[in-house]
Amino acid sequence: MIINCHLRKLVRHTGRKMIHEVIITSKSKDDIINIAPMGIRIKDDEVTISPFKPSQTLTNIMATKIATVNFIDDVRVFAGIVTNFQKNWDLCIAERKGIVPHLKSSNAHYNLIMEEFKDDEKRPNITCKIISQGNHRPFQGFNRAQSSIIEASVLVSRLSMLPIEKIHQEIEYLKIGIDKTAGKRELEAWTWIIQKIKDYEDNE
Ligand SMILES: Cc1cc2nc3c(=O)[nH]c(=O)nc-3n(C[C@H](O)[C@H](O)[C@H](O)COP(=O)(O)O)c2cc1C
Repeated sequence: MIINCHLRKLVRHTGRKMIHEVIITSKSKDDIINIAPMGIRIKDDEVTISPFKPSQTLTNIMATKIATVNFIDDVRVFAGIVTNFQKNWDLCIAERKGIVPHLKSSNAHYNLIMEEFKDDEKRPNITCKIISQGNHRPFQGFNRAQSSIIEASVLVSRLSMLPIEKIHQEIEYLKIGIDKTAGKRELEAWTWIIQKIKDYEDNE
């Protein structure tokens, strides 16, 4: 009871909301689709996306006012994009105009329309309304190797900002989840991550 009360106060004080790691598909004015991992916050029928400046996702949403959230357990998409090993992933044809296509391998998706834009020097907040959604594949439980790939993908996206010793330390820990629980897709994503870090160090 006391802990619950403390937690509620903390949440209210920090304005903290859970962050969901997803893939955002967005499109440019010229209908070119961009696929990017992003952390989003969800409240009722609203989604907030917070892209750092500059980013293609931000440019696209400002131009078209639409985006799609892809909930996906194929973590190769996260790793493939941040490592540049695979940037293109199969898309479904959008059901109608005014919608950004979702990834073929997504478990579920939300189609969004922008409602509010709060600008910021580094990281604006784009709040969107969910206008339609789809469920494609059931959630099959948590997997430690998938969590390791998501964490390692975040590290890779910050390679130039973090000391290389910290990267190695964290990779060593994340490898435990890979060694114990990875399937084929997670092993493939892991090879991209390790190669990307090696290439970065070789070119330093
Ligand atoms: C799990 C994960 C979450 C991420 N969340 C964000 C985010 O919330 N905002 C952001 O700008 N970049 C985020 N990134 C980094 C972007 O995916 C990366 O910088 C990407 O290249 C930006 O794509 P874009 O320029 O194509 O929009 C995240 C990366 C990962 C792996």
